[in-house]
Amino acid sequence: MSKLAINGGQPVVPAELKKPWPPITQEDIDSVVKVLKRGVLWGPMEEEVTGLQNEFAAYIGAKHALVVNSGTAALHACVCACGIEPGDEVITPAYSFWATAQSVLAQNGIPIFTDIDPETYNMDVNDIEHRITDRTRAILPVHTHGLPADMDPINAIAKKYNLKVIEDAAQAAGSRYKGRNAGVLGDMAAFSLNGSKNLPAGEGGIVTTNDSELYERARKMSMFGENVIPKGSIRLYDAQIMGFNYRNNEMADAFCRSFLRRYDTLQGQRTANCEYLNQELGKIAGVKPLPIPDGYVTSYHLYKVSLYPEKIGITSVHPKRFRWAVQKALREEGVPVFEWHNMPVPAQKIFLNKDAYGKGAPWSSSYCSEAVRQMKYDPNDYPRTVDMFDRSFCIDDIYPPNDLQLMQYFVEAFHKVFNHLDEVIEFSRTITFPTMPEEKRII
Ligand SMILES: Cc1ncc(COP(=O)(O)O)c(C=O)c1O
Repeated sequence: MSKLAINGGQPVVPAELKKPWPPITQEDIDSVVKVLKRGVLWGPMEEEVTGLQNEFAAYIGAKHALVVNSGTAALHACVCACGIEPGDEVITPAYSFWATAQSVLAQNGIPIFTDIDPETYNMDVNDIEHRITDRTRAILPVHTHGLPADMDPINAIAKKYNLKVIEDAAQAAGSRYKGRNAGVLGDMAAFSLNGSKNLPAGEGGIVTTNDSELYERARKMSMFGENVIPKGSIRLYDAQIMGFNYRNNEMADAFCRSFLRRYDTLQGQRTANCEYLNQELGKIAGVKPLPIPDGYVTSYHLYKVSLYPEKIGITSVHPKRFRWAVQKALREEGVPVFEWHNMPVPAQKIFLNKDAYGKGAPWSSSYCSEAVRQMKYDPNDYPRTVDMFDRSFCIDDIYPPNDLQLMQYFVEAFHKVFNHLDEVIEFSRTITFPTMPEEKRII
């Protein structure tokens, strides 16, 4: 077999086969142009925003959907609506985009992190209960990469301790858990519509809930903290709570509505690509695609694989060093591999320094428990999250219109790299890479 591309060989994957995301149709363009011709670009109750809210609510099977201008805003609106106050604690996984925890800090609440389940990389449901204190108010699981968190035990714990459950469904439009859609699996849910997401608007987010009271509170905080009055009524300009301008704009919402109309077809193509990779990459010793448990439907927002060099007798190199070398070798072969984050959220400086707003707030607040004021976030408290980062990476371009032809090249590149493991190990010894803050391991 030919030389690896890292050693000057010919790359496997033809670059011209890779198509960008999102695939934009004439119908999408016409939808946005229609808004521009209409000339109404914004407003909380205009045609596109209300259309998207109604259509997404129907798609998810939720009573209410509230469109906002980012997934982060949607999360913040949920956290606020669920009544999180200064010093209140919210339990959330150590593996996520940090906006999940940020939404808690935005309400002056305190994120308390769990480790992840080593199989699904979602919140470890056995790591929740012992973290509950008299200040805990909510659990905020993440449907990581689109795979739903194990919601039954999470809801059972929440019920036992009278906690709210907020789904971070930013990556999970169209995901399902035991026959129900992500978005109606807890008290509230937050979706992201940013340009990378399976359901994009450019930027945007959606809150879903079946609870009318929570919906009204989310709506109020997203509109400056004012009561949202019926269209055509006189605005009172009388803020009642801390609020923000989280409105989206009509062009983005029109684009998203147009995309939603063919969303299931696109998801079908994405799923076919990822299932093919699951099947083929799963045959390579030492490579493990993320398993999808029975009863779960993932949106496959991101496609993740993990490497287990020790299972193929490679113990002379640390799994992290091995993974970096394989990743680099695959990239040179033309496989678009990348890391989605590289450290547990509590390893980020804002947590190590315990300072979000200056003066150590919110952790220094007298509303926090003494334990929270004294606590230190330590990445080593989340060993399974650290291990997941060591041995895993994501493969990009698994979305349509890319198809099985491209996936076949990806698989061929994996085989090429795994057939040259001596070269990969040799190469691994030359790599220097950044380490996570306070990382003490020798790799
Ligand atoms: C898990 C998760 N939560 C929250 C967000 C925040 O969404 P947005 O970028 O739309 O603010 C994202 C997306 O980037 C995400 O992946």
